[in-house]
Amino acid sequence: RKPIIPYEEIGPDVLSRLVDAFYEKVAAHPKLKPIFPDDLTETARKQKQFLTQYLGGPNIYSQEHGHPMLRARHIPFPITPERAQAWLECMAIAMDEVGLEGKIRDDFYHRLVLTAHHMTNRSDQEE
Ligand code: HEM
Repeated sequence: RKPIIPYEEIGPDVLSRLVDAFYEKVAAHPKLKPIFPDDLTETARKQKQFLTQYLGGPNIYSQEHGHPMLRARHIPFPITPERAQAWLECMAIAMDEVGLEGKIRDDFYHRLVLTAHHMTNRSDQEE
């Protein structure tokens, strides 16, 4: 059986639309907006690169930025459990908007839940 590469199932087009829809939500979210830059163009560009490789596509994030070390790269930002939840909610709405559904969505979302929890680096009180 041919292994399923999520990146190939989802495709670059839907992935790009997903990331754009996601940062629209982030920019409007009262708990997330304050910790992100005002201009999310570069953030979205990097996230498209990262998710491409996270989903089994070409390693274009690492080619430009080196090893992701995502938790380390997030340490400067106060990522509380509340913010991790908010991030995931924005992603779920974005997935709805681009019509990502079924097992491919569920598996992707589940991995993001684990990664978002792994990014948590402050308690809600320390925010
Ligand atoms: C960058 C917040 C989870 C991937 C960032 C930045 C912030 C942030 C504030 C910096 C933006 C910038 O300066 O351009 C959060 C919050 C999360 C979260 C609040 C909640 C848990 C995640 C997850 C992933 C992720 C789950 C991956 C699946 C990235 C990437 C970057 C980034 C790839 C760009 C890193 C770079 O500068 O090269 N995030 N993040 N983040 N985040 Fe997150």
